Amino acid sequence: MCGIVGYTGPQSAITPLVEGLRRLEYRGYDSAGIALGTPGSLFIEKRAGKLGNLEGALPANLPVVHSGIGHTRWATHGGPTDRNAHPHVDNEGKLAVIHNGIIENYSELKIELEKRGHKFTSDTDTESVAHLLSDLRKENKGDLTAAMREAVKKLRGSFTLLAIHADAPETIVGVRRNSPLVVGIGDGENFMASDVAAFIDYTKRAIELGQDEVVTITPGGIEITDLSGKKVAPREYEITWDSAAAQKGGFSHFMLKEIFEQPKAVADTLIGRLSDNNQIQLDEIHMSDKEIKAIKKIVVIACGTAYHAGMVAKYAIEKWAKISVEVEIASEYRYRDPIIDAGTLVIAISQSGETMDTLMAIRHAKAAGARVLAICNTNSSTIPRESDAVLYTHAGPEIAVASTKAFLTQVVAVYLIGLKLAQVRGELKDSEIHNLYNEMLELPAKIEQILETVEPLRELTRGFAQSASVLFLGRNVGYPVALEGALKLKELAYMHAEGFAGGELKHGPIALIDQGTPVIAILPAGHDHALDEKMLSNIQEVKARGARVIVIAQEGDKVVGAEHIIRIPVASALLQPVLATVPLQVFAYEMAVTRGNDVDQPRNLAKSVTVE
Ligand code: G6P
Repeated sequence: MCGIVGYTGPQSAITPLVEGLRRLEYRGYDSAGIALGTPGSLFIEKRAGKLGNLEGALPANLPVVHSGIGHTRWATHGGPTDRNAHPHVDNEGKLAVIHNGIIENYSELKIELEKRGHKFTSDTDTESVAHLLSDLRKENKGDLTAAMREAVKKLRGSFTLLAIHADAPETIVGVRRNSPLVVGIGDGENFMASDVAAFIDYTKRAIELGQDEVVTITPGGIEITDLSGKKVAPREYEITWDSAAAQKGGFSHFMLKEIFEQPKAVADTLIGRLSDNNQIQLDEIHMSDKEIKAIKKIVVIACGTAYHAGMVAKYAIEKWAKISVEVEIASEYRYRDPIIDAGTLVIAISQSGETMDTLMAIRHAKAAGARVLAICNTNSSTIPRESDAVLYTHAGPEIAVASTKAFLTQVVAVYLIGLKLAQVRGELKDSEIHNLYNEMLELPAKIEQILETVEPLRELTRGFAQSASVLFLGRNVGYPVALEGALKLKELAYMHAEGFAGGELKHGPIALIDQGTPVIAILPAGHDHALDEKMLSNIQEVKARGARVIVIAQEGDKVVGAEHIIRIPVASALLQPVLATVPLQVFAYEMAVTRGNDVDQPRNLAKSVTVE
């Protein structure tokens, strides 16, 4: 939600800033803007719409300037207009600020600042910070870092802020509270950004920042302080992927590339998890056997696609480890009175590790005494840092807004946790663990097999492009797959789509079926095909009412009543979501392409939702 980048060094800043913003556009694309550190007065340009609009507006004779800040916006306060685009400046036009998050007390600040003579020119919450910083900088004898510390003490909400001033343009000051910011350490140059992807072409050395830490970068220095001004030792880490991972690599869209990366992502997440004597190796969950045996209840907290991975966790962990699992939408969790105690293990699932609702929910759970285990794809992000332990998925950077490979790896991670708990608690024999793990190792090749045969599915999808709505049905683990299929279609094709548990069909949803309504039924469900017959009945019920039925079925499954059958390889029922989801991703992708939508940056969405 909003991408932020800052650069100071010997290069012409426009290049790392625009390249960085392009890498961060997945975070928001309502508008884009830059402030270049031209000595004496800043050069500012900002435009509504995508980054291309900003690039088009830049003059050909742009001065060569060696520092600057850039922003790509997902609008919260104030519509997506040129005026509301960041950076926002003080009344002298010398101090510029960019912001990700929400300043909750901005209207109080605005009233105060207007009384002091400041003139506001936008509808944003951010502009109040520019004016506030301007005053505080004067009070602190031109020290922007000290001014930032003072400003932050007056702000409520969540924010990453970067500021630059024309009187010392090689200095950029940043701060973060509940919102991401990383520092990139270059050679004679330094960077700041919401995500390491912004500067991965220039350096693999990064520093993570804690809550309310203020960082000041110049070409030759990085200084981090807390709000009292005390120095903080930098926590440096190495970025483990390279810039090729953040490029399309010949695919027409990041999403398609990421769909095709799934076999590798799943394999990488599974690698080395079973010892020679068939013990699941998950040292990073930091739980002793005694602690695992003491778990009374698991609560999975997540949003969006990650929530669907959490639903799969419920089926798998309850079946294998016999521990009761609740799955909670993070934004709902802390606003009721959830029952949490020391016997509760909270599993937070988040691709980005920055989703505000999930972060707030785990803070709530921790405060109430729960142990929190994160499943995350982004190293050193906030959710893993604030959890007791983290199991990283190894999907690599996911750029397309709609999640694909991160989802499959989240599902694999919950399987690993389920097997570990089952083994320690004696609910599965070592031989059963061995067989299940080995079957999981076959999943990458099976996904590959599905991907080799997607062309007919793409053609089939095009035939449904004019449909008003698509319904998805599934039972057991097929139910979260149905929900995920519907979510993908909503996100990408902007079509009405709903996923239902097959058993619920007769309790309302069947009224939606009309002549020609497409229904996608996920047949593999339930152990030993126990639910196949019930799904086949559902198929007959919708067909009898005019639906055009597409069935996802395993090779060899008997299917009656389908207009089209999409075959996927055979796997144990609980593992099927890793396979059955893939055709649904392709369906949504192709639908978006056919309908002329922006696949990687669907309207109104952001990949990382860092506001509540
Ligand atoms: C946003 C994204 C979704 C994602 C959800 C949760 O809504 O568009 O694709 O599933 O956030 O994100 P997380 O990073 O916590 O997994």
